Amino acid sequence: MDNRPIGFLDSGVGGLTVVRELMRQLPHEEVIYIGDSARAPYGPRPAEQIRDYTWQLVNFLLTKDVKMIVIACNTATAVVWEEIKEKLDIPVLGVILPGASAAIKSTHSGKIGVIGTPMTVTSDIYRKKIEALSPEMEVSSLACPKFVPLVESNELTSSVTKKVVYETLLPLAGKVDTLVLGCTHYPLLRSIIQNVMGPDVKLIDSGAECVRDISVLLNYFEINRSREEQTLQHRFYTTASAKSFAEIAEHWLGQKVSVEHIDL
Ligand code: DGL
Repeated sequence: MDNRPIGFLDSGVGGLTVVRELMRQLPHEEVIYIGDSARAPYGPRPAEQIRDYTWQLVNFLLTKDVKMIVIACNTATAVVWEEIKEKLDIPVLGVILPGASAAIKSTHSGKIGVIGTPMTVTSDIYRKKIEALSPEMEVSSLACPKFVPLVESNELTSSVTKKVVYETLLPLAGKVDTLVLGCTHYPLLRSIIQNVMGPDVKLIDSGAECVRDISVLLNYFEINRSREEQTLQHRFYTTASAKSFAEIAEHWLGQKVSVEHIDL
């Protein structure tokens, strides 16, 4: 047993899609979350800057005595997960491997699409991981730089958002049977993405897939939180406005949340 919280980090509100799934699959676990919305999006930034920012978030979580860190951001996972995992003596999970395996499991045609931030797509990490596991897969990747700013500004259903998603995804429509949402912000646009891609395309939520791995690791290291420990005090931190973060978080998680602004 280990009653300490699990730490989550993201460039902003995207990692909440992972937290929502955690709360559904592992409702006894406690969450500490840090979102760097003041500096989002990370996707168009140089790798060195993403690395520095991600380490700042990791170091913040370490001050909260977390038992595990989940890099709930594909962009940060692509750039710095391996390094963080090597350096820390607690388990550190990223979101890319779980998404890659789930896509392989889901596809029938072997044609997989991946959408992500410019950094995730340039790194080509999904194709590398998918082809390493299953070389006959055909992976088509597409950067969607306009999606994260729309989500961060809580424009989840506006007509502008619908138009942007439609225009951006058009090159992939009809070409794949499985689409990896390779950015944790994208599940917030899920229904629009599904509309554009069509009902037969399976959408893979990389963050949700990662919760299964969290569960495996908690069991493996025997660090689950005790079920007798009743009071959960999830805590959320943002580098931008606590009010805007809370609006999105409460809508997405369906519960009141305590959000605090911090400067890193
Ligand atoms: N949520 C992020 C991801 O999964 C990062 C988005 C961004 O800041 O560009 O890639």
